[in-house]
Amino acid sequence: MNVGILGTGNLARALGRLWVDAGHSVLVTGRDPAHVAEAAEKIGAVPAESADLGSRVDVVVVAVAWSGLVEALTLVGADRGALAGTTVVDCTNPVDYATGEVLGPAAELVARTATGARVVKALHLFAGASWPWTGPAEQAPVVAICGDDPEALDRTSTLVEDLGGRAGVVGGLGAARQLEEAAGFVMRVVGSGHNPRFAVPDVDPALLRVPAAG
Ligand SMILES: NC(=O)c1ccc[n+]([C@@H]2O[C@H](COP(=O)([O-])OP(=O)(O)OC[C@H]3O[C@@H](n4cnc5c(N)ncnc54)[C@H](OP(=O)(O)O)[C@@H]3O)[C@@H](O)[C@H]2O)c1
Repeated sequence: MNVGILGTGNLARALGRLWVDAGHSVLVTGRDPAHVAEAAEKIGAVPAESADLGSRVDVVVVAVAWSGLVEALTLVGADRGALAGTTVVDCTNPVDYATGEVLGPAAELVARTATGARVVKALHLFAGASWPWTGPAEQAPVVAICGDDPEALDRTSTLVEDLGGRAGVVGGLGAARQLEEAAGFVMRVVGSGHNPRFAVPDVDPALLRVPAAG
């Protein structure tokens, strides 16, 4: 796949490096040319002009600070249709890490700003340093993802699997707010002095009968 990463920070570098290792062609862009050059070198990616990104890739992964989300999307022309038809994976956490307060929504904002893009919420919950998963496959992190476009969900699932994770499609893009709230929940549990790993129930889906929706 041709993967464009919007952002040059910690997450962009962690994911980008692993996708290069998995055989993807990775382009990176951002607002600061020096940061773009440095990140591209670290990742083994191609530095790209922001305005070109959309025309050169199948997927754009958004890995920027919540406060800069719209500005970053505008940089790549998303508001002018430059990402129309492109899979856009939003990894943003619209969360105050100190308090767990959710400041978003983020993915909805991406969908509103990036005209015609096929938006998926994914990869916001686990730290970049969680990857690659090298333990037993049946214990690999489950990355809950959501979106309205089946092809975009497939592409995102492939990228998750290339990190060693398991993708769990939990619904359409309307579920993104809940996934973003989950990040706030995680930070609130951390703030209480506990590991969020132990703050959710151990549920075997095979043993739990949930009535079908609708
Ligand atoms: N780090 C993780 O493990 C992790 C895991 C999951 C999700 N996330 C989420 O991923 C996003 C990035 O996190 P990070 O840890 O990589 O942060 P980071 O290292 O601080 O990098 C932030 C990136 O956002 C860019 N940015 C900030 N304001 C911008 C603006 N106004 N316009 C354009 N670009 C702007 C920065 O550009 P400059 O370099 O020019 O400042 C930089 O490339 C956040 O939303 C975070 O919640 C992070």
